[in-house]
Amino acid sequence: MSEPLFQTRGLTKRYGGLTAVGNVDMMLERGELVGLIGPNGAGKTTCFNLITGADDPTEGTITFKGEDCTGTCDYEMAKKGVARTFQNIRLWKQMNVLDNVRTVCAADERYGFWSGVLRLPGFRRIEPQITARAVKLLERMGLGDALYAEAPDLPYGDQRKLEIARALALEPELLLLDEPAAGMNPAEKADLMRTVHDIRAEFDLTVLLIEHDMKFVMGICERIYVLDHGVEIARGTPDEIKANPRVIEAYLGGEA
Ligand SMILES: Nc1ncnc2c1ncn2[C@@H]1O[C@H](COP(=O)(O)OP(=O)(O)OP(=O)(O)O)[C@@H](O)[C@H]1O
Ligand SMILES: [Mg+2]
Repeated sequence: MSEPLFQTRGLTKRYGGLTAVGNVDMMLERGELVGLIGPNGAGKTTCFNLITGADDPTEGTITFKGEDCTGTCDYEMAKKGVARTFQNIRLWKQMNVLDNVRTVCAADERYGFWSGVLRLPGFRRIEPQITARAVKLLERMGLGDALYAEAPDLPYGDQRKLEIARALALEPELLLLDEPAAGMNPAEKADLMRTVHDIRAEFDLTVLLIEHDMKFVMGICERIYVLDHGVEIARGTPDEIKANPRVIEAYLGGEA
């Protein structure tokens, strides 16, 4: 059997007395599209923070492409091929849409982030290729008509798409999406769902998706992990998850 692209073992994060993530074992094969769901405060975003190196686990290990990456910082994880979007959108507010992506494309080249921001001579020579790549990504995400809009002026849904374009600019192998459809209307959600499904093959990605919209998650994910209070309560196919009493209890428990 081929080695998984990504794996956690006993992944744990404690904040004082609170166990935000407790003993989570997760595994992704190359090319999978997997959902990570659970009620509010279940520990989903914390998992993303640990996987991307934004935060260090209290216990447990993270393996990416066979390498132990536990404790590797977010910048290094991005270089290794792990990119994400954020639940609370994080864009460069003082930049237009195109520059938000171009800056990431530029950081990918040997001239580095600052030579791109400062437009040093070496950067200016390769600028046309960088711009072309950024435009292509933005067009793919349906933002071809908004290249020169200021990022904060975009409708909310488009800001989320811009975040995905920016994550793709890193040429990741593993893409983590934290509630990409939050705040979208049903038509926008359906459109984004198709896009997430399609870019996986187009960009040769493995995708881990956090999303509260069950239609979205069940519609495109092959497998789903369910967290509640930081621990895994279920894993399986969408049909298995839908029928799982522990999952139903976790979601309806508060209302029951
Ligand atoms: N930096 C932090 N310091 C202290 N507690 C934290 C921190 N980050 C998260 N938590 C707590 O850890 C728990 C899990 O939070 P997390 O944001 O991972 O949940 P989530 O599943 O993403 O929820 P949501 O669906 O609301 O986004 C929550 O109780 C949260 O308050
Ligand atoms: Mg969250």
